[in-house]
This record gives sequence, structure tokens and C-alpha cells, in this order.
Amino acid sequence: MKGLILSGGRGTRLRPLTYTSAKQLVPVANKPVLFYGIEAIAEAGITDIGIVVGDTQAEIRAAVGDGSRWGVTVQYIEQDAPRGLAHAVKISRDYIGNEPFVMYLGDNLLNKGITQFVREFEAQKPAAQILLTRVPDPQMFGVAQLENGKVVRLVEKPKEPIGDLALVGVYMFGPDVFESVNRITPSVRNELEITDAIQDLIDRGLTVRPHIVEGWWKDTGKLEDMLEANRLILDTLERRIEGDVDAESRVEGKVVIEKGAVVERSIIRGPAIIGHGARIVHAYVGPFTSIGNEVEIKDTEVEHSIVLEGACLRDLANRVIDSLIGRNVRIWREPVKPSAYRFMLGDNSEVGIRW
Ligand code: G1P
Repeated sequence: MKGLILSGGRGTRLRPLTYTSAKQLVPVANKPVLFYGIEAIAEAGITDIGIVVGDTQAEIRAAVGDGSRWGVTVQYIEQDAPRGLAHAVKISRDYIGNEPFVMYLGDNLLNKGITQFVREFEAQKPAAQILLTRVPDPQMFGVAQLENGKVVRLVEKPKEPIGDLALVGVYMFGPDVFESVNRITPSVRNELEITDAIQDLIDRGLTVRPHIVEGWWKDTGKLEDMLEANRLILDTLERRIEGDVDAESRVEGKVVIEKGAVVERSIIRGPAIIGHGARIVHAYVGPFTSIGNEVEIKDTEVEHSIVLEGACLRDLANRVIDSLIGRNVRIWREPVKPSAYRFMLGDNSEVGIRW
């Protein structure tokens, strides 16, 4: 069995971060989202993983390498443009050959992994197996309709409600899917939809097995989902303090402080993680916060946020909350007159100022 991770896509809902970084590499609890997917596949005993890459391939190749870090062999498959998940399957035909495979969307996170899901597929050998979960906003996803435990219909982003069972971004296929991806035509968003390809399997009388997700699932395509995923993952960490914490600081609850991090005269209230080389000085880092490597937080309070590598927050009068701060971003207070806001923000940045 092989693994196929899709890591193309433009990540428009996470701009401006995704102008300079692949959405799959945005870290959750200081680890790129994509790495959780690789780990889940490796844990299921799959050692050959193809990663479909697009415009951001250089960055993804640099971060993942040959996969040896996870004991797997990674090969890259280039997609010329984001033409849909079924298109990604189509161009992976040579890599996959006639083996069954698990397809994993590189921005998805599942806390219970996929091992059980993979074992079930191996035992039952259907043409496809899909992972489903109930969501409050099914119009944002592919949705499946079940009858007597069987999948009878699938619709991508349904306008008319057909139920609330959304397709999670993890799928298993046997070789029949390659015929289906060749039979379908592009959708209204001009993509070859995997949902349509699976519907085609059903139309051809082949078996598509549903599997309902246990535990939580997150598609980290937008800010609120990133923050929620960060919350969920931080909550699973075990306390580990390897950095230097001075006697005037307090570290409460589930907190990871990596080697080389320095905490002075500060309060860190978990769940939280502080990356290596970070400097937290006379500051408060509150629950559900990930502070990246080499970040500086000085005379500032930050909570329920993700702060990426090299960023610096200094002397801020109000607490920073619900934020995703990009790499090397600097926010500080200037004592000079006129007292005013001074910004230099990338395209599509979002700033909420206290009223
Ligand atoms: C894709 C699939 C959709 C699925 C979702 C899961 O949507 O097309 O069926 O429910 O991933 O993350 P997209 O993220 O491309 O809008």
C-alpha cells in the first residue's frame, strides 16, 4: 500500500501568510501541519509516500526531504496548477501503479490517526473507503448521503442540504479510481473533484465504504481552524521544560519550553509551547499559545495565538489574542509623537484595533 499526500493549492484563505509559505507548512504547536499527516501515514505502516506539489514545491521539498526522518521514502509528484483532487490522483498513476493507496490532504489534522481506517480497508477491500464526520456547515465540504450504512450519493459543496456528513480529507482507493478520474469532467470551480470520482465508482456499481471519524478532525484552511487545531494539539502535549526559566517566572500547567529558550520575569500559563531560542521577558504567555523558535515577547501579553519564527512583540499596551503572526513580523510601541498607528502590512493582512 502507498500513501499520497496532496500539498498543492494556493491557500487563499490564509493570506498573507500563504504568499510566502505553503499552507501545509504553517505550524500547529510549532510543527508544520503536513508533518502530522506524514506521521499518521507512517504510523499505519505505510513506507512509500508520494507528495503532490505545486507552486510551493521548493519549500515543501526543503522541509520534508526524502522522508528518512520518519522512516519513509518520499517522492514528489508535480502538479502544474491546482486542478483538483481527482487531477492529483490522475497524475499520480505511475507512482501508485496497481497498489491500493491512502490519499491524505496535507492541511488536514486527525487526532486519532488513520491506522484503524487503513486496517479496515485492507480487510474489506472495497473500491474506495471514505472518512466522514458530522459538521454544522456541510455546504463548505463534500457531503455523503448514506442509506442502510451504504454510501449512495456524494455532492461537493451542496447548495441544497443533503445531510451533515462531511467528507474528511482522507480517502482510500483501489485501482478502479483511475478509470473514474478519467471519466469525470471539471466542476463549476473548474476542478476535477474527487467527490465526483467517488460518485462515479458508486454509479459503476462498485463498493464505497463509509467510516465515521472517531475523535476530532480539522481542515486547517483558515485562521479560526488553525487556532482551533493549535488548541487541540497543545492540549495533548506533556509538560517538558528544557529552556532556562528564572526564579521570578511562573510556568503553570501543560507547557513545553524547548532548549535554548529563555523565560525571565514572566508567567507562562499552559497549554503552551515556547520554541528554541525564544526570549520571553517580563511577559505573559496565556493558554493555547504557540511561540515559535527565536521569537521575542517583551513587556507584552499574548494568548490563544500562534506566533511564527523570528517574530517580535514588544511593549504592547493591550493583550494580543486570537492572532496568527507571521515569520519575522515586528510589532512594538513607539514613544515618539505624534502618537498614532504606523503600519507596514503585506497585501490582505488583517489588523483589529482595540476600540
Ligand atoms: C476538499 C474536498 C471536500 C472535502 C474537504 C476536506 O475541499 O473537495 O470534499 O470535504 O477537502 O478538507 P477543499 O478544501 O478543496 O474546498
